[in-house]
Amino acid sequence: MDLDDTLADATFRYDLPIRYRCERAVCTTCLVEVLEGEGNLSEMGEREKQTLAAIKAKPNWRLSCQVSVMGDVKLDYIPITDPRRRPDEPPLF
Ligand code: FES
Repeated sequence: MDLDDTLADATFRYDLPIRYRCERAVCTTCLVEVLEGEGNLSEMGEREKQTLAAIKAKPNWRLSCQVSVMGDVKLDYIPITDPRRRPDEPPLF
């Protein structure tokens, strides 16, 4: 990624497998888990904090539409259907 890219910029430039819908920290479609390089991401804004709190996100989850990238990071995309979003529900199989 280039310095100062947003994750959305990088997603479209490098064809990363992250989906976007609202791009306003509302829908959580772009949810990612930050595996490495958290210090290379921009600070979390109020809107992102509120949305992540509403879905009971883990501390290392971010909304990639709200994040600017300042260095190397390693991410795992969490799709809408991913069971990690519903930790209280038993797995289907
Ligand atoms: S695209 Fe909707 S929260 Fe990021």
